[in-house]
Amino acid sequence: MIKVRRIGHATFETPDLDKQIDYYTHVNGLALIAREKSRAFLATKTGQLVVQLERADKPSCAKISFEVAPNEDFADMARRLTAVGIKSEVRSDAIPGLPKVLSFKDPKGTTLELYSEWSFPGRDYPVDGVGPLKLGHIAFQVPDPQAITKFYCDVLGFRVSDWIQDFFSFLRCGPDHHSVNFIRGKIVRMHHIAFECKDMSHLQSACDVLGRKKIAIIWGPGRHGAGHNVFIYHRDTDDQIVEFYTELDRMTDEELGYFDPRPWHVDRPQRPKVWDPAAAGLVWGPPMTPDFIRGRDM
Ligand SMILES: [Fe+2]
Repeated sequence: MIKVRRIGHATFETPDLDKQIDYYTHVNGLALIAREKSRAFLATKTGQLVVQLERADKPSCAKISFEVAPNEDFADMARRLTAVGIKSEVRSDAIPGLPKVLSFKDPKGTTLELYSEWSFPGRDYPVDGVGPLKLGHIAFQVPDPQAITKFYCDVLGFRVSDWIQDFFSFLRCGPDHHSVNFIRGKIVRMHHIAFECKDMSHLQSACDVLGRKKIAIIWGPGRHGAGHNVFIYHRDTDDQIVEFYTELDRMTDEELGYFDPRPWHVDRPQRPKVWDPAAAGLVWGPPMTPDFIRGRDM
């Protein structure tokens, strides 16, 4: 089994590269570290690549990169993918800080790029806007969340942190409660991308940034049950849902198998479980707005 350790960066296709660069640099708070004719690369203020933009006809999350253990052998990973019927190739696409990736498509058609070697393409960038700490997770809508969850666990080494009934899974590849999640829907598409803020005060500043820019908060602030993150959601210039969050549950010891004890946990200790939708969605906060639910086709 391949053991994915950490989410790296997301690649978005966009019909309007300039508008997306403007959103990511002046609202989201990332730094533009490289710009080509039809591609752009954005890093956090600490200098870690988290978003790649590529010009295309319509918006989509086309690729996600993941870090694997430093000793993972590319030929061996390729063999393990071949054994489950997946063709992969080693690519060097001149991505800042990422010299070599093993590229393949997951069963829902998203390109995954695995890497073991990387470097910070820069450091200590001054940023405008929110300025998140890192890329936290990416949620996808898929027709069969069970099947894709099984693939991510069996082939890529993810673990199930929680389910909401049988329609929404949360998977971890490191201490964070989830780095990917899958919600049932008729067509495959990204549901939302989430960036981590430092604390509640940072999240409050994020609300102020969105307010100043006249960008609606389409759900939140509130605290989820599953994962217990405090969240706000808005839509970017391509109508993609973007979450800022803080205080996500963490499992620091896999053998112990529970999330770090927190005052807001109902179960002591809090272990992975199947949630009832009402409790999983909100511990506190306002209900989802129609603009958050828009486009969902469960
Ligand atoms: Fe999320």
